[in-house]
Amino acid sequence: MDIKFEEAKTLKEKPTGALGFGKIYTDYMFIADYDADQGGWHDARIVPFGPIELSPASMVLHYAQETFEGLKAYRTKDGVIQLFRPEMNARRFMNSNERLSMPKVPEDMFIDAIKALVEVEKDWVPNEEGESLYIRPYMFATEASVGVHPATSYKFVIICSPVGAYYPEGVNPVKIWVEDEYVRATPGGTGFTKCGGNYAGSLKAQEKAEEQGYTQVLWLDGVHKKYVEEVGSMNAMFVFGNTIVTAPIDGTVLPGVTRDSIIHLLKDWGYTVEERHMPIDELMEGAKNGKLTEAFGTGTAAVISPIGELCFKGEKAVINDFKTGDLTQKLYDTLTGIQWGNVEDPFGWTQEV
Ligand code: COI
Repeated sequence: MDIKFEEAKTLKEKPTGALGFGKIYTDYMFIADYDADQGGWHDARIVPFGPIELSPASMVLHYAQETFEGLKAYRTKDGVIQLFRPEMNARRFMNSNERLSMPKVPEDMFIDAIKALVEVEKDWVPNEEGESLYIRPYMFATEASVGVHPATSYKFVIICSPVGAYYPEGVNPVKIWVEDEYVRATPGGTGFTKCGGNYAGSLKAQEKAEEQGYTQVLWLDGVHKKYVEEVGSMNAMFVFGNTIVTAPIDGTVLPGVTRDSIIHLLKDWGYTVEERHMPIDELMEGAKNGKLTEAFGTGTAAVISPIGELCFKGEKAVINDFKTGDLTQKLYDTLTGIQWGNVEDPFGWTQEV
C-alpha cells in the first residue's frame, strides 16, 4: 500500500504528568477512502490530526454503520516500539465489518497502516511505566444517502492517544453493577462486533451504575437476564480456586484479545478455564461464601482490572476483601511484562514496529 504523507505545520507539545485515558491526541492520523465505484480502497495518507469533512447526509450519521478497534504500542526499555497481537485486531475488525455489511480492510493493509502511523508518531509512545500509545482504528459510512442500504463509500481512519490507566482506580479493584433492566446483546445481533452502536445502547445502564457509585456494568444475557456475559469495556473472569470461569464467545460477547491471551496464560500455568454460561446466582453465591476467590476484567484499554465488589438487585458482595488477588496480579505482571518487553514472549505475541 502506497501511503502519502502530509507534514504538519506545527507539532504539539508532548504532555507531562498523568495522561488519563483518551483525552490527548497525537500530531497525525491515517485515512484511506473506499469507493465501490473506484474499485475499493484508495488514497491512503497520513495527514495532520484534524477535522474530517462529511456530508450531513453521510450514512453513518443516520444508520450507524461504524466499527472500531483498540490496540496499543509499547516502548520497551531498549527503546523498541512494539505492538501486541495486531493480527487479532485486524481479524476482529473484518468480522465486525462483515456483520455490519461494510467492506473489509485486508489484514496487511490494517497492520501496515498502523505501523506506518506509529513510526511517524514514535516520539509519542510514552516511556513511563504503565503508559502506552492507544491506537484507535475505525471505519464509517460516508455515502450521502438517507435510504437504508449498505453504503458504497467509507473512510478508514486511525488516530493515536498516549494513555495511562483506563479507570481512575488504576490497577486497584473496581466496583461493578450487575444490570438487571437493560440488555447489551441478543443472539443473532451485533454483540460480538466492535461497533459504536453497541456502546451507545450501553450508556443508559452505565449512567445508572455511576449514579450508584459503581464504575462499570456487568451485563447479563439478553434473553433470560440470568447468565453472566461481559463488562462494558472488558471481558470478565471469575476465579474459583484453580478454575476460572468466563462467558463463551458465541455471538453476544466481544472476543477480546486480552481475554484470549489470559486464557492462554492460565492454561499454560495449569489452571482449568471453563468458558460457559454462568448463572448470576452462582456468581453472587460464590462471592458470599468465599468460593469465588478473585474476579477481574480483561481488555486492551483496561488491561487486567480487579473486581472488588458486585451489586445485583441491591445485594452487595465484596470479593477478596476488596484487594487485588495474587492470580490477578500475576496475570497483570506477566501480560504487561510481555507487552513492555520485560518478560520473555513465549507465544510470539509482540511485533516490532
Ligand atoms: C479497548 O479495550 O480497547 C476498548 O475498545 C474498550 C473501550 C475503551 C471501548
